[in-house]
Formats: sequence, C-alpha cells, structure tokens
Amino acid sequence: MDAQEATHILEEERTRGLAMIAEARDADALRAAEVAVLGRKSRYADAQRSLATLPPEDRKTVGKLANEVRSALESELERRREELSRADEERLLEADAVDVTLPGRRPRTGSLHPLTIVEQRIVDIFTRMGYRVAEGPEVETDWYNFQALNIPPDHPARTMKDSLFLEVAGRSDVLLRTETSAIQIRTMEKQQPPVYVVAPGRVFRRESADATHSSVFHQVEGLAVDEGLSFAHLKGTLEAFAKAMFGPEQRIRLVPSYFPFVEPGAQVDVSCFICGGAGCRVCGNGWIEILGAGMVHPAVLENVGYDPERYTGFAFGLGIDRTAMPVYGITDIRLLYESDVRFLEQFGGVA
Ligand code: FA5
Repeated sequence: MDAQEATHILEEERTRGLAMIAEARDADALRAAEVAVLGRKSRYADAQRSLATLPPEDRKTVGKLANEVRSALESELERRREELSRADEERLLEADAVDVTLPGRRPRTGSLHPLTIVEQRIVDIFTRMGYRVAEGPEVETDWYNFQALNIPPDHPARTMKDSLFLEVAGRSDVLLRTETSAIQIRTMEKQQPPVYVVAPGRVFRRESADATHSSVFHQVEGLAVDEGLSFAHLKGTLEAFAKAMFGPEQRIRLVPSYFPFVEPGAQVDVSCFICGGAGCRVCGNGWIEILGAGMVHPAVLENVGYDPERYTGFAFGLGIDRTAMPVYGITDIRLLYESDVRFLEQFGGVA
C-alpha cells in the first residue's frame, strides 16, 4: 500500500466510522462499531501497518493523519458512549417511577378492644385517687377463691355461682377464678395496711349467656384497708368513680346486697342507657348492675393476719363489660366476644 492509498483509506474510514458511531443505538452496537473501525482487522489497522513500508517523508504525513483519525474516532466513541448511558439511565428511572398522583393504599391500623379501653379508663380513675395496680392468677385454689373470702366448703354461697373446677392430678381444689376477689387475699398476704389497690382481670363462670351475661367476663377488684375507713368512704369513692366514668348526668343507685366476704354489702346499678330507666329487654327493670361492694368482713381480715379491731376496709368488684355497655351504647355483651371487625373498628384508641 502506498501513501496515497493509505491516505484515502484513512479518510474513508474517518467518514464511515463517524457515521457508524452516530448510528449506534445501544452499547453493543457501539462496541461493534469500535471493533469495525479501529479493531485489529479494520482497514484503519491495515493503513497503520503500512506505515512501516512507506518512505520516511510519507510516513510522517500519513502517520500524522492516522493519529488524527484515531483521536477523532475515539473522542466521538466516548461522546456517544456517555450519551447512550444517560439515555439508559433515564429509561430505567422512567420504568421505576412511582405514580405519586394516585391516592395511596393505607395499611389498616388496629385499635384497642373496647374492653381494654374501658379497663384502662377505670384503672386510670383509681390510680389518680392514689390506688396502685395488683394482679393475680386466673387459675386459683379453693382457699383464695372461697375459703379465705369467708366461704367455707359447705357454705350456701358456693351455689350462688357455678364454678369451673379443673382436673389436676392429685388435687380437687383448683378452679378458674369466679371473681377477682381472690386478689384481695393475695395482696393482703404480701403487705401490711394501708392498702389501696385495684386489680383488673378475666373471670369465669358456668353461666348461660344473654344480653348482659357472659361466661367469661372481666372485673376490676378494688380494695382499701386502713385505720378509720367507713361505709361513707366506700360510697364517696364509688360516686366519684361513677361521675368520672359516666359523666355527672348518669344516675346510679346503691342497693343492699349480700356477699359473704363483706358486711354490710351493696351493689351499684346505673340507670339503663337504652330505656332511661323505664325497663326494657336489656335491663329488665330500668337498672343495670355494674358492681358489688361492701365493708371487708372482719373474718377476712383475720384470715390474712390483720387486726380487725384496728383496721377496717372496703372492697368492690366492678364488671368491665357491664361498664363498657353504657359507655359505648352496646346493647348485647356477646358483641364484645365475637371478634367482628365491623364492630371492633368503631372504637378509638390506636394500639
Ligand atoms: C362479685 O363478683 C363480687 N366478687 C363483687 C364484690 C367484690 C363484692 C368485693 C363485694 C366486695 P357479682 O357476682 O355480683 O359479685 O359480680 C360483680 C359484677 O360483675 C357485677 O356487678 C357485674 O357488673 C359483673 N358480672 C357478674 N356476672 C356477670 C356476667 N355473667 N357477665 C358479665 N358481667 C357480670
């Protein structure tokens, strides 16, 4: 190959190469163009190899041209490579784009169960009065559930509620607690007066369900033992509670009642929130019983080693379910146990 031919090839390859590079649509096509115009088997490489056989004068001019052509092609390759990678990136961004103009799909947030909300409100009211929170087991012994509460084995009060005894090898005294009152005994065993505690918990009875009765329900036990406590303190405490819980408009009444572990005993009713006290399917006589209460029986104080000559006390057992009913206008207690989301999501208090 002489100088003229080499010059011609280099000029042609410059034009052809620039066109191929400009036409490359992607990185693969660009690599192919690079190999075609500058690769070992390219016409450019032939022309360059021919330099060795040219006379020195021609070698200088053709060599200079070969360098010019290579650097023009290389800078164009670089420019096109950047252009294509920018386009690639934009395509990727476009494919990944999230349409933020659509309304989002919100995850459904859970909420506290109405019984939990009401339990927390009850406990709050009493802790603000200075009570602390106590706890006890759901599986109890006959001693704590009955005997220590002044209900010996042959006492007729045992038939007042049907208890659920458990089959435990070698023992016949284990049952599901019928009321939270057992926590009174467990608390007094552990400390000396003054005692001011509230104890929330689940209780179990063999009872058939209706609009206001469930066989599993919840209570908050209250116990105060100190020097000089009287029935007036009990009444004042319960009235303060009812005002805080139901508002000043709600009517309540105290009715004499019997529980073996208190003397005297009483129950507290709230006027029915459905019929306003006239009597209806839910309440029967216009009132809904929410708690039992009374002055702690001296025999109970003796059972835990307290001196009944020095200390007196009052106790109450409040039904959480029965309290939740007027608060939320729930007409059937069974709704609280059906886990129906349409019912449950009506209550506030995010978990
Ligand atoms: C008791 O359980 C006593 N331990 C209360 C007590 C404590 C009296 C301390 C004196 C001193 P009673 O069985 O009445 O009493 O239940 C108390 C409250 O639990 C009732 O007022 C009612 O609100 C609720 N309750 C009772 N039985 C049911 C039931 N089957 N379903 C839902 N709530 C109930």
